[in-house]
Amino acid sequence: MSDSSATPANAAAPAIPLADASATEAAGAALAAALASRPGAVVFLHGDLGAGKTTLARGFLRALGADGPVRSPTYTLIEPYTLGARTVVHMDLYRLADPQEWWTLGLDSYAPSQTLWLVEWPERAAGVLPAPSVALRLERVGDARRLTVHGDPAVAAALRSRLEVQL
Ligand SMILES: Nc1ncnc2c1ncn2[C@@H]1O[C@H](COP(=O)(O)OP(=O)(O)OP(=O)(O)O)[C@@H](O)[C@H]1O
Ligand SMILES: [Mg+2]
Repeated sequence: MSDSSATPANAAAPAIPLADASATEAAGAALAAALASRPGAVVFLHGDLGAGKTTLARGFLRALGADGPVRSPTYTLIEPYTLGARTVVHMDLYRLADPQEWWTLGLDSYAPSQTLWLVEWPERAAGVLPAPSVALRLERVGDARRLTVHGDPAVAAALRSRLEVQL
């Protein structure tokens, strides 16, 4: 399955290599740091099945203090986390049958201005999701992955510079 038509246009974004799953988690941690000053944000995680979206979300959540298991909310579609003063909602919309179902997920108390949204398979709610603050795309390269960052130029630049330092 390909969802490349949903990639935000930014052909110039350089790809960041992620050699293994721990590098993908580190990218998630770098994203959390890049968004540290924002009370809320909407992050789209694009990529085919198994691309590493949940792995990146795990790194993000662990960096903010989540210490339990972080799994894709495949059946509930949303999983809220309260982490200190922050609220993060991890979403996996793969099983959303219709974009309008998005309104039934119970997100009323998680305004994206005050909540960090990590959205796997945002394509499934095209037209109803708010615009992303940052959109990441994970792609397989052999057994490894690569990451491209799109969206709000300030967030994208902060994330890229953190990743270049950390990875
Ligand atoms: N950079 C990487 N190099 C190699 N393997 C990786 C890398 N990042 C993640 N993985 C591995 O890829 C597999 C799939 O990861 P993950 O579940 O995060 O994918 P996903 O994009 O969330 O998939 P889905 O669309 O099914 O939710 C896991 O075994 C994970 O450890
Ligand atoms: Mg996943």
